[in-house]
Amino acid sequence: SSPRSYTIAVIPGDGIGLEVMPPALRCLEAAATRFGFKLEFRSFPWASCTYYLKHGTMLPSDWKELLQACDAIYFGAVGDPATVPDHISLWGSILAFRREFDQYINLRPCRLIPGVTSPLANRAGKPIDFFTVRENTEGEYSSIGGMIFEGTERETVIQNTVFTRVGVDRVIRYAFELARSRPAKKLTSATKSNGISITMPYWDQRVEEIAKEYPDVQVEKYHIDILCAHFVQRPHTFDVVVGSNLFGDILSDLGPACTGTIGIAPSANLNPSSRREDPNTPWFPSLFEPVHGSAPDIAGQGIANPVGMIWAGQMMLEHLGEKNAADAMMRAIETVLGRAKDGAGGGLNILTPDMQGKGTTEELGSAIEQEIARAA
Ligand code: NAI
Ligand code: MG
Repeated sequence: SSPRSYTIAVIPGDGIGLEVMPPALRCLEAAATRFGFKLEFRSFPWASCTYYLKHGTMLPSDWKELLQACDAIYFGAVGDPATVPDHISLWGSILAFRREFDQYINLRPCRLIPGVTSPLANRAGKPIDFFTVRENTEGEYSSIGGMIFEGTERETVIQNTVFTRVGVDRVIRYAFELARSRPAKKLTSATKSNGISITMPYWDQRVEEIAKEYPDVQVEKYHIDILCAHFVQRPHTFDVVVGSNLFGDILSDLGPACTGTIGIAPSANLNPSSRREDPNTPWFPSLFEPVHGSAPDIAGQGIANPVGMIWAGQMMLEHLGEKNAADAMMRAIETVLGRAKDGAGGGLNILTPDMQGKGTTEELGSAIEQEIARAA
């Protein structure tokens, strides 16, 4: 049989996106070589402010077909607020992909990596290892609403929350499936049914209903305010946490923040139900990116932390079904960071400045690449 092979759309974007992408691609190459599959990288210069300044548009007219010819999208970071307003650069790229490809899940791992200092005090050695699952297409972030009597004393503003059965059920079901696949098999639902008295009780009701299909998964729910407190006070007790667009947005920043620097956190925008091999429905690829942006303040210095980009690649391999390669990449990240903090394997000389080191993007990226190549 022919070797497994995947076509990846590579979009570096702007700023440090251009710097963290090359070492991350080398890590993916190392994983592919080590585990016997092929990756074809198709690099695109658009979805960047450089492209916008030249062409007056963020995307070429055939962007959709170009991306749909790929199995997944690997995205760096977009944004150059000094030359292009953020609403143009973000809505014209990453947010267009999310919407057009109906990437209804935003998934982020929150995991305390050996050697990375958590900003939380008194961690007492308990591991933090959970996922936040955010609804990514509807909910509170609808553009339904408006203003009347503008500029008068009766000025009135209304924005509606939109929960559809389809939208709510598919994110909850995805979270249950993820919980079922993990050893702890526990799902936490974010709600606020004591204050938001129509949509949130509906959310709770759908969680209860779908829970009947997953008797092996333990379910709990918390109001969003106390849930945020629990993230800080006992993050080790969570496994899979699911929330609406707004609540998920809050939790998906707070979770990774509890486990260290923004430079290492990855994120996936998924359409888990789209199948490339299904001829009856359009193919909607998923997108993998670091949580961080283009970091204009450090761009051009070669000191950006490449781990967020590399870890996003790890999530992409997992999504493509290359579980062994994904596990090896995760182990390599943990090994290299843990060893460096212990003063071995190059020590602080290979960690980037955001991790209190003196290393460069290239040095840290290469150390992880070599560790992946070595993986058993
Ligand atoms: P940012 O994430 O780019 O930077 C925030 C801070 O974290 C900066 O001090 C930066 O130096 C530091 N930082 C970020 N990533 C790092 C890394 N890998 N290694 C070391 N330090 C790192 O967020 P900011 O400054 O608010 O936004 C800058 C631009 O990026 C804006 O145009 C914004 O719209 C865009 N952005 C794009 C995103 C995307 O492409 N998905 C996400 C977030 C922001
Ligand atoms: Mg956010």
